[in-house]
Amino acid sequence: MKLWAGRFQKETDFLVNDFNSSIQFDYRLYEEDIKGSIAHATMLGETGIIAKEEAGKIISGLEQILKDIEDKKIEFSIENEDIHMNVEQLLTERIGDTGKRLHTARSRNDQVALDIRLYLKKEIKNTTSILLTLEKALCKKAEQHLETVMPGYTHLQRAQPSTYAHYLMAYAEMFKRDIGRLSDCFERMDELPLGSGALAATTYPIDREMVKEALGFKRITSNSLDGVSDRDFAIELASALSIIMMHLSRFSEEIILWCSFEFHFLELDDAFSTGSSIMPQKKNPDVAELTRGKTGRVYGSLITLLTVMKSLPLAYNKDMQEDKEAIFDAVDTVKQCLNVFVPMFESLTIKKDRMRNAASGGFINATDCADYLVKKGVPFRDAYMIVGRLVNMCIKMDENLETLTLKDFRAISDAFGDDVYDALSLRTCVNERVVPGGPAVLEVKRQIERIEKFISEYGE
Ligand code: ARG
Repeated sequence: MKLWAGRFQKETDFLVNDFNSSIQFDYRLYEEDIKGSIAHATMLGETGIIAKEEAGKIISGLEQILKDIEDKKIEFSIENEDIHMNVEQLLTERIGDTGKRLHTARSRNDQVALDIRLYLKKEIKNTTSILLTLEKALCKKAEQHLETVMPGYTHLQRAQPSTYAHYLMAYAEMFKRDIGRLSDCFERMDELPLGSGALAATTYPIDREMVKEALGFKRITSNSLDGVSDRDFAIELASALSIIMMHLSRFSEEIILWCSFEFHFLELDDAFSTGSSIMPQKKNPDVAELTRGKTGRVYGSLITLLTVMKSLPLAYNKDMQEDKEAIFDAVDTVKQCLNVFVPMFESLTIKKDRMRNAASGGFINATDCADYLVKKGVPFRDAYMIVGRLVNMCIKMDENLETLTLKDFRAISDAFGDDVYDALSLRTCVNERVVPGGPAVLEVKRQIERIEKFISEYGE
C-alpha cells in the first residue's frame, strides 16, 4: 500500500508507477538518505518531539538497513517510488509503528534537497582529488621538459618559441581555476535545507542547528521556500564540470593532433591506444577522442538542468526529479574521463627532436629578430617591416633566418651585427622571455613551484 493511499480510492496504474518512480537512479543516495534520517531522528528525540526510546529504535533500524543495502541484501521497489519512501517503508516493516514517526516535521521535498547536497559535496571532493593528481602529473612532466623547445601556435600556425613545460603549465593554471570553481560551488552548497518541510517549514520546535552539526554543514538555509525550490547548486556544479571538460577536450584535441604522423610530437603508450580492425598500421588515440566526445554529454547535462528549472513556479515540482540523472551523469563522466586521462598523459612519449625541428622552421624567431633590431635602436614598426622583408627573402631562397649570411642581413638593414645569430637561437629566444608568465626555464620553474605550493596547501 502506498504511503499516501488514504486520499485515494484506486491503485496507481502500473504505467504511472513506472513513469513516476526514481528509485532506478536515486537508489545511489541511500547513504545520504539514511544518514540524514538518523540525524533527523536524533534531533526529534533530543528535542522531545518524539520519545527518546523511539528515536533510538528508529536509529538502529536505519543503521541495520544501511548495512543490509551495503551487503546487497535489499531489493528496492518501484511501488515505493524513490529512495526516501523505500527506506521509510523498509523501516516500518522492520520496526513497526515507531517507524511511522520518522517523518514527523519533515517532507520528502527537504529530504531530497538534503540528499543531493550531501551527495554532491562528496563528489566535489572526489573530483577535486583527481584534478589534484592531474596537477601533480603536469608539474612532474613539466620539470622534465623545461628545455624541450617547441613552437607555440596561434591559428594553428607556428607563432613563437616556447617549451613543452610552458605549455603544460598553461593547463595546470586552467585546472587550478577549475578546482577553485569546484570549491566555490561547494562553499555555496554547504547549507542544510532540512527543516524547510514541504515549503513552509514546520510548527514543531525542531533544532536545525543540531542537525546541521550532525551532518557537517556550515550553515542552515535561511528561507524554507528557497531551501526546497532551487537546484542552482547542481547547475553551478554542472557548469564547473562543463568547464573542466572543455579544458580536457582542448588538451585531448592537441594530443590527438600531436600524435598524428604529420606532427608526431607525441606518442601514445600501447596500453593507452587502440588498433584498427582493418588497417594494421593504425594506433588510435581513442582515450583522448572519447574524452573530447564525452564533453558534449556533460554540456548536455548542464542544459538539461537549466531547462528543467526554467519557468518552474516555487516550490517543488515533480519536474525536479529530472535533475538527478543529469547531474549524476555529469559527475560520473568527468571522473571517468579524468581517471583514464591522467595515466594516458603520464605514459606519453615526448618526441623532443620533432618538437625542436618544428620550432626551427616556420620563422618562429621573427619577433625576436625584430626585438633584436629594437634593442639596436630601430623603432618597432620599422623593425617589423625589415624582418618581413627578410622572411620574404628566406622563402625565396629556401632558408631560415638563422641560416642567412650576415651580408644578407645587412643588405636589408645595417643595424644587424654578427651577434644576431645568438639572438636568433631558439635557446636565447626562449630564455629571453623571462618576464613573469614567460617560457624561460627560470620562470617556468617558478610557475611549477606555485602550482606545487597550491597542491600541497590544498591537501591541508
Ligand atoms: N523523488 C523525488 C525527486 O527526486 C523526491 C521528492 C518528491 N516530492 C514530492 N513532493 N513528490 O524529486
